[in-house]
Amino acid sequence: MADVVLGIETSCDETSAAVLVATGGRPPELASLVILSQDVHQVFGGVVPELASRAHLQALPAVVDRALAEAGLAWSAVDGVAVTAGPGLVGALLVGVVYAKALAYAGDRALIGVNHLEGHLFAPALEDPELAPPFVALLVSGGHTLLLDVSAWGHYRLLGETRDDAAGEAFDKVATLLGLGYPGGPAIERLAGEGDPARFVFPRPMKDEGLEFSFSGLKTAVLHAVRASPDLARDRADLARGFQDAALDVLVTKLDRAVRATGRRVAVLAGGVACSRTLAGLAAERLRGVARVAVAGPRLNADNAAMIARAGWWRLARGERSDWTLDARADLPMPGLEPFLTPHPAPRTGPP
Ligand code: KG4
Ligand code: ZN
Repeated sequence: MADVVLGIETSCDETSAAVLVATGGRPPELASLVILSQDVHQVFGGVVPELASRAHLQALPAVVDRALAEAGLAWSAVDGVAVTAGPGLVGALLVGVVYAKALAYAGDRALIGVNHLEGHLFAPALEDPELAPPFVALLVSGGHTLLLDVSAWGHYRLLGETRDDAAGEAFDKVATLLGLGYPGGPAIERLAGEGDPARFVFPRPMKDEGLEFSFSGLKTAVLHAVRASPDLARDRADLARGFQDAALDVLVTKLDRAVRATGRRVAVLAGGVACSRTLAGLAAERLRGVARVAVAGPRLNADNAAMIARAGWWRLARGERSDWTLDARADLPMPGLEPFLTPHPAPRTGPP
């Protein structure tokens, strides 16, 4: 039984470590969380993979030491190490995986590789120990947009996903069009708060049916409006508002549809886009009387090692262990995700 779990997350541009402590059979509690956001990427308007790997390499040992120090624990107190094994930037993931393997091997501790997406799903459980499946989850990040029916931890049924851009990616691309920095989501939410909702009403792609998403048409509509604007400085907040209203309306409408279709009484919002208080507010409003909306605070929704430790703790507690062949995988499939058929053609993987 792993009572003290060290979590490590290096899948993208956050170097993070966390310590989770479980005592007396109670749900595990967060003893520390350190997140170092790599700001080197801001100069480039997006994450540069090679720079991310190098920054993780440089920072990770100190970030892990700091997490242990803040928890008031020595390395010898750690029972298990949980590390993000994918999906993500493969070079960045490798840094965390190799470091975690070395720690676990040298100290003869349990090791568990965690799927980053599964980690996001566990984030609200850190703040709300009562939170448990069944629930419907809207998992929205920079790389993914998934609607999942979670009948139990480890059992995920894909209800719908995006056909093109991820929701967070759409926020980031529109932010670039508007001349805002990276990451775009927080900047758009801030600016949209000052915008007039009536000036730009953008299309809501695929809103009226199904549980799949598409954001590229909305992004193009914003691009045309930006090009047509005679004064971007004047229109910027209104454009941000119009885009955010459209994107969030689609997300909340699909979540609502999924909740009603499954009859679940809890809806979880997870992933970086769930940092949006506007999204959480709209979801709670739309689902009032139908389902409770569970969402973690922004620090636990953005990439962090606490959620990885929490998902890893659950897998370790069931007796799962990763062996020394654990590798980083950019496309690591979600554990427990039932096979599914999507109506659109799968992307071509080999030569034509
Ligand atoms: O989960 P995450 O931290 O990283 C990935 O695993 O991708 O998600 C990052 C994404 C970025 O695209 C960022 O723009 C978006 O989350 N995001 C937001 C907000 N805060 C972060 N999107 C909309 N509104 C926000 N307030
Ligand atoms: Zn993430």
